[in-house]
Amino acid sequence: MIIAVDGPTASGKGTIAKRLAAHFGVPHLDTGLLYRAVGRQVAINGGDPDNPADALAACAFPDELMQDEVLRSEETGGLASRVSIHPDVRKALFDRQRAFAEQPGGAVLDGRDIGTVIAPDADVKLFITASVQERARRRWLEMTGREIEIPLIEIERDIVNRDARDINRADAPLKAAPDALIIDTTEFDQNGAFELVLEAVTAALEKE
Ligand code: DC
Repeated sequence: MIIAVDGPTASGKGTIAKRLAAHFGVPHLDTGLLYRAVGRQVAINGGDPDNPADALAACAFPDELMQDEVLRSEETGGLASRVSIHPDVRKALFDRQRAFAEQPGGAVLDGRDIGTVIAPDADVKLFITASVQERARRRWLEMTGREIEIPLIEIERDIVNRDARDINRADAPLKAAPDALIIDTTEFDQNGAFELVLEAVTAALEKE
């Protein structure tokens, strides 16, 4: 069983994917972390994230980098969004994601193109979204909790820029698969959103 969870930044898709994986007892891959590791590695190499060759070279990042807390920063998220534009980077990360999706017993993957490119054969496809203002508020709360001070307006601006880049890129842009269940979590807290999702996923699996 493959569950694909896509959506824009700070939509809550990561938490939902993690909880779905725990619920169904299958492994979970946050594919954004792969792009974040590439973005971070470009910076370590002193390269330019907008240069396709520099970004491709950074795909050879060491596995330990995936555990580095710095991957969760806003700055690395911005770098990830920039390197993710390059088709060669997407190709270099494809096999790893596909192998994860194909493992016996199934998997949950979250990202931007799981339902459209990585696992178009997924049993259930979800597209999780929420308003820009609500996503900015959630990210701000999370960062304040980590004692990172950043004005809400700055986060909102970053989210708008990141959405634009992710939606408008030519290769594997952020978009819902035609057969995805679109779930707007703006009005829900984490538990409420998960209940909504679990109901939708259970109903979709029963229909199969
Ligand atoms: O989900 P995230 O914020 O960690 O993702 C960071 C960036 O990585 C995002 O702005 C675009 C890119 N990304 C992608 O292009 N495809 C994916 N499957 C996951 C992330």
